[in-house]
Amino acid sequence: MSHFDVNKDIQQVEECVAFLRERLSFIPPIVIQLGTGLGDLALQVQPTLILPYSTIPHFPAATVSSHVGNLIAGHLHGVPVLVLHGRFHCYEGYSAKEVAFPIRILSQLGVRILIVTNAAGGLNPAFTPGSIMIMNDHLNLLGDNPLRGPNVESWGPRFPDFSVPYDPKLIALAQMCAHACKLQNIVTGTYACIPGPSLETPAETRWLRGCGADAVGMSSIPEIIVARHAGLKVLGLSVIANVNSPDQMQPIILEDIIAAATAAGPQLERLLIAIIQSTKGAIDDTQTT
Ligand code: HPA
Repeated sequence: MSHFDVNKDIQQVEECVAFLRERLSFIPPIVIQLGTGLGDLALQVQPTLILPYSTIPHFPAATVSSHVGNLIAGHLHGVPVLVLHGRFHCYEGYSAKEVAFPIRILSQLGVRILIVTNAAGGLNPAFTPGSIMIMNDHLNLLGDNPLRGPNVESWGPRFPDFSVPYDPKLIALAQMCAHACKLQNIVTGTYACIPGPSLETPAETRWLRGCGADAVGMSSIPEIIVARHAGLKVLGLSVIANVNSPDQMQPIILEDIIAAATAAGPQLERLLIAIIQSTKGAIDDTQTT
């Protein structure tokens, strides 16, 4: 017997969607999810509504102290956005489905583009701490998938295609904006998502690099899988907080990761603002597909 209760899933999504529909006067096409050390962008949003996750029906409760939990609706430099300030992680004990619940809700509300930010460890030796990696592929090593269990056909297909997981036009736009903002440290690459919370051993670091990963982290992939399942376009930006080399492993300390991500924050903010100000074309495209 499956332990999945699809009717309960549907009911929870419907209750949450109805709750938010009542409170949001309109649904911006873009949602930005802010990761570790990257929350300052939220301060630049002119909010029309701030909802703590704890007040939203069926949202999981955030447990990590470096993450606040607010859904913000407002304008970022004149562009309407939703911001998920704070996220959930599998290492906190949530399933991938629970982690991705907010994205399921926002996709049902009609959001068209998901932009995620996170902090990650670099594996590509050409990367340096402070590099911003535009995600162009991923390895889901969570041992979980938010789409496990009965599929709800109205949410998306049973076997969603992942041959082009990250939107090529948004990647090109991000590269163009990085150039226009004169940002030096912009790279692209594959993000490996591990469950954590233990960090990588030297052998795991060597193995991940051998598997084609350019960076490793513990977040974002459940949300990205649900977003793609629902037909959203996805852009992922990883701040490379540290660079790990299997033959010269250094201790990886959370405070250092947060400090490095925070230091790269202003560059990431400039990039994000430039991107959302020029997403108009990409949004028009999504409305015809
Ligand atoms: N490994 C996993 N997750 C991380 C790292 C790392 O080195 N740095 C930031 N998040």
